[in-house]
Amino acid sequence: MDQSLFNEICLRQLTLSRVHEGETVAVLTRGAERLDYADAFLWAAQKLGASSFHLRIPSPASASGAWAVGDSGLGSNPLAVQALESADMLVDCTFLLFSKEQFAIQAAGTRILTAVEPPELLARLMPTVELRERVEVAAELLTKASVMRITSPAGTDVMYQLGRYPTMSEYGYTDTPGRWDHWPAAFVFTGGTDDGVDGTIVLSPGDILLPFNTYVQTPVTLTVEQGFIRGIRGGLDAELLSSYIKSFGDPRGYGMSHVGWGLDERAHWHGLTQFGGGMGMELRSFYGNVMFSIGPNNELGGPNDTACHFDIPMRGNSLYLDDELIVDQGELTVPEMRPAGRR
Ligand SMILES: [Fe+2]
Repeated sequence: MDQSLFNEICLRQLTLSRVHEGETVAVLTRGAERLDYADAFLWAAQKLGASSFHLRIPSPASASGAWAVGDSGLGSNPLAVQALESADMLVDCTFLLFSKEQFAIQAAGTRILTAVEPPELLARLMPTVELRERVEVAAELLTKASVMRITSPAGTDVMYQLGRYPTMSEYGYTDTPGRWDHWPAAFVFTGGTDDGVDGTIVLSPGDILLPFNTYVQTPVTLTVEQGFIRGIRGGLDAELLSSYIKSFGDPRGYGMSHVGWGLDERAHWHGLTQFGGGMGMELRSFYGNVMFSIGPNNELGGPNDTACHFDIPMRGNSLYLDDELIVDQGELTVPEMRPAGRR
C-alpha cells in the first residue's frame, strides 16, 4: 500500500481511538518488521496533536517457527516496558498478546491496539462506530448468560458453563484506558469454567484452523470432558492437530479456551485465500461464525498460560445462551446485532 494511503487509514484509526492533544502514543515494532506501520502511526498521532515515539526491539535470537504465544521479547527489558506503561496508548505491531508484559502495560492504564495484519486488510475492515455498537449488544447478551450450547448439523453438541470469566469484545479500536483491541476485529468471547466444558465438537470441511491457516478438509471429532480435550479422531486434519498439540509437551495445550461469535458482514469466510500469511483476524470476525479456542485462558484471567493455542472459527453452527437461540446456523437472530440492511 502507498504510504500516504497507509497514513490516512492510521489517522482514521487513531481518530476512532480518540487520540488527542496532550496524549502520548507509543508504537512498538520488532526487528525489521512493520517499520512502515510505525511511520504511518507516528504521522497520524502527530496530525492529531499528540506526542509520539517509536520503540524498536530486536528480533528474537532464535525463532522456533511455531506460533508460541506469550513471549513478547520484553521480559528482560524493564526499561522498555516502563516507557510503554507511561504512554496513553500503545500501538503494538509485534503481537504482545498473552504476555505478562502486555498485562502490566494495560494495568498501568495504557490502552493497547494491536496492528499486525496486512495494510490492505486494515483498510478493507476499517472499524466503525456502528460495528462497535453491534459488538457491544452481543457482549451484553453474553455477559448475562450462564450456559452456552453450540450445535451443528455435523454433530457438534457442546456445553460451556459460564460465569467464571469476563466477556471480552473486540471491535478494532480502543478509546478506553487500559483496554486492549485488535485491528481488524468484530467478535465477542468468554471462557467456560475450568472444568465446565463437556460434549462433542465435530469440525466440518471449511472450518478454519488458526494458526495453521488452513481449511479443514475432512471431519474432525473432538471429545471434551471437564474442560479438556480427551479425544481427537478423524483423518489427516485430526492427525495434524494432534501432532501439533503433542509437540508442545504440555497437557494444558488440550484445555478449552475462549468461545464466542463474529459479527462483521464485510469479513469473508474465504479470506485465507487472499491473506494466507496474515494472523487470521478476518476469519475470526466473519459474520455468524462460531469460534472456539484451545489452549491458554490467561487472557481472561485464568490459570492456563500454555504456549499452544488454536482459534477455530466454524461455519453454519448454532449457538444458544441459556436456551435462547443467538446464532442460527450462521445467522444472527438478534436484530441489533445485524447490519442495518439485514434487520
Ligand atoms: Fe485465541
